[in-house]
Amino acid sequence: MEETKMSLLDDSFTSAMTLTNSGVPQVPDRYVLPPSQRPALGSSLGTSETTLPVIDLSLLHQPFLRSLAIHEISMACKEFGFFQVINHGIPSSVVNDALDAATQFFDLPVEEKMLLVSANVHEPVRYGTSLNHSTDRVHYWRDFIKHYSHPLSKWIDMWPSNPPCYKDKVGKYAEATHLLHKQLIEAISESLGLEKNYLQEEIEEGSQVMAVNCYPACPEPEMALGMPPHSDFSSLTILLQSSKGLQIMDCNKNWVCVPYIEGALIVQLGDQVEVMSNGIYKSVIHRVTVNKEVKRLSFASLHSLPLHKKISPAPKLVNPNNAPAYGEFSFNDFLNYISSNDFIQERFIDTIKKSSS
Ligand code: OGA
Ligand code: NI
Repeated sequence: MEETKMSLLDDSFTSAMTLTNSGVPQVPDRYVLPPSQRPALGSSLGTSETTLPVIDLSLLHQPFLRSLAIHEISMACKEFGFFQVINHGIPSSVVNDALDAATQFFDLPVEEKMLLVSANVHEPVRYGTSLNHSTDRVHYWRDFIKHYSHPLSKWIDMWPSNPPCYKDKVGKYAEATHLLHKQLIEAISESLGLEKNYLQEEIEEGSQVMAVNCYPACPEPEMALGMPPHSDFSSLTILLQSSKGLQIMDCNKNWVCVPYIEGALIVQLGDQVEVMSNGIYKSVIHRVTVNKEVKRLSFASLHSLPLHKKISPAPKLVNPNNAPAYGEFSFNDFLNYISSNDFIQERFIDTIKKSSS
């Protein structure tokens, strides 16, 4: 590991923050996407005006309204694999403190952030740029710090020690999202006709990866992306964004911009829920656009079963008319896949689909 770190300290690592701060008038060639993959900003072509679902989660706690909320969740999961939530119970002070700590982290001098750099996707704490700067053919205008976050006491000592408030502020947010995930996965299990506590133990002991993303202002946002189209390996991803930039693909394969709603959090279905539901719900394909004016921050909290625990279609959702449509997989299988394959060319979930013969 030491060796990998050392070899990354040469000029081959340049963060998006460094480029923005140096005032480059254009993006370097490695960021320029082939024309067909560019985001068509500013034109209505290829982006759709669809209204995306916003769900009031306080309804889940009201006995007479819970089934209404579950119905709304089920509709959103079927149509988009995506919804935003309001009244989710995480105080705005916790959210703002986490954003503040992230801002301070990305503003640190390069040398400080490089202490945590790694190209090894199995590393539990990892600073980087693009997806994986050492292997990406096209680069993305994004810096990140990712860390395992559950159980917090197991990992927090490995988190950044600068800024000094980071562990405390981001730790509080991570714990709050873990609780929120539990409520959401219960509702989603119920919406599929499964027991509310289906997979409860695996989920409580499950892994949580917090990806803290920074997308600095980009001189040529029409040529580049912050993240390419992908779905998350997670059961659910709870996403906090500081401003708009996320786009999701709808069932007609149109890109839809996700509006910024103050105080809301975004819920995205990941590949683990697609497999668990035997394809009744699909993970949402999403990408991130960048802009010329503002730096955008996001926290993507990816929840999943424990690292080595395999997920497979729920037995109750498999019957003679609905054969299992997927093989099983674990978070670790996903990591092995992305460390040796170009996951932009082929989505991981496509590799475990059973042919429908
Ligand atoms: C991710 C992701 C979206 C965003 O980290 O997997 O999709 O808006 N992030 O940063
Ligand atoms: Ni994602």
